[in-house]
This record gives sequence, C-alpha cells and structure tokens, in this order.
Amino acid sequence: VEKNDLVGRKVIVTAGGTREPLDPVRYIGNRSSGKMGYALAEAAKARGAQVTLISGPTKLKPPEGVAYVPVETAAEMRQAVLAEYQVADIVIKAAAVADYKPQQVALQKIKKAGDTLTLVLEKNPDILLELGQRKNQQILIGFAAETESLLEHAGDKLMRKNLDMIVANDVTQAGAGFNADTNIVKLLYRDGRIEEIAQMTKRELADVIFDKIQQIVKK
Ligand code: PMT
Repeated sequence: VEKNDLVGRKVIVTAGGTREPLDPVRYIGNRSSGKMGYALAEAAKARGAQVTLISGPTKLKPPEGVAYVPVETAAEMRQAVLAEYQVADIVIKAAAVADYKPQQVALQKIKKAGDTLTLVLEKNPDILLELGQRKNQQILIGFAAETESLLEHAGDKLMRKNLDMIVANDVTQAGAGFNADTNIVKLLYRDGRIEEIAQMTKRELADVIFDKIQQIVKK
C-alpha cells in the first residue's frame, strides 16, 4: 500500500561521498555508492514529500520527481544544504562527508618525484554539527558509519550534533554499509532508546526510517 503521509513536507537527503581535490586529476574520496541516500529520496518521494537530493558523484540515476543537486566537495555540499535548510521539515544526512581535505590544491598535476609524498590535510566543516546548532522546526537525522564501538560513537554524535535520531551502521558487517544493497542498523534516540533493525534492503530501511520519523513528529 502506498502511504501519502509526507504530502506537504519538504525533505532534504544528502547521499554519496564527497571528493576533495588534490590536483586537476586526483581527489581523496570514499566508498559510498549513494545507494542508501537515493533509497531515502525515493521513499520520501513515494510518500508524497517534496524532495531535494544533494549528492556527491555516484553511478546512480536520481529518482524521478526529486530536485537533484550534484556536488563534489564537502564545502559544496554544505552550501547546497544550507541554502534549503530553513524551509525544510526533515533533513537526513546519509552522505559520507570527508572530515579533512588537502590544504593546498595543486594547480598542475603533482609530478612523481621522491620515494614518499606527504600530504597536509585540514579540517572540513562538519555540516551536520552546524545543522544541529541552527535547528528550528526541522527533524534532523544523521548516520554513523563505524568500524568499532558502534553504539558509543553513534550516541556521542546523536547528542553532540543535536540530532533527533541517528542511524548507526557497523560498516565491517557483511550486508551492511558502503556499497551493499542491504543494511543492518541500530536506531538511537535522544531519550536513550535503541532499536535494532534486522537486515533488509536499503529501500525497505528507508521506509522504516520515515515510519520512525513520523513517530517522532507525533510526540
Ligand atoms: O552510499 P552507500 O554505499 O549506500 O553507503 C551508505 C553509507 C555507509 C555511506 C551510509 O549508510 C552512512 O553511514 N553514511 C554516513 C557516513 C559517514 O560519513 O558517517 P560519519 O560517522 O563519518 O558521519 C556522521 C554524520 O555526520 C553523517 O550523517 C555525515 O553525513 C555527517 N557529516 C560528517 C562529516 C562532515 N564533515 N559533515 C557531516 O555532515
């Protein structure tokens, strides 16, 4: 059955991984495929929302009927999200954003020279932290991709970034995390509740996430 419970809602989803350029031909990236974020955008659209999908480069086709904003770097993603944040009802940050970027972007291709090459990186803005600080009416949902101490790290991000819920995936598990078609997650809430969600497709999980958001809205 098709639900229409997001009619009249404005939803922003970020997806994919950012790319931080080193020189004209190289970048620092990560293994995000965009599948989780695109599934969320598709689910929100199917439930009647007005959806903006802000995405790093992926091989995926944006779902029909969503406003699509392609970006590359964390700085571009930040600009795109902030441009629509104040009028959004629900913001979900499934993107894998680079925490650091090269301090210098070489204007020419870096030439092969010594046996080692040292890169100096500087911190990127934490977009989600900033959204949490500027939060008004929005329901703000983050993801946490962890390889150790899943609940501890995810719980810390939930509170520190002022989120309503965080979706924690242990990305070392088979069938979970980067590039998988399924995910296995735990949902953490501000009141300390933790819900374990069994393995399911990212599209199915997207609907579970919107069901949980609706419960938060009703409270
Ligand atoms: O794209 P797929 O291949 O389908 O993979 C899905 C996924 C593993 C990428 C996704 O499920 C996921 O976990 N996304 C978040 C990945 C991540 O960067 O997690 P993090 O723990 O480093 O960041 C925590 C949260 O802060 C995330 O919501 C992230 O979008 C946000 N963040 C992080 C750093 C930064 N500079 N700005 C941010 O907004």
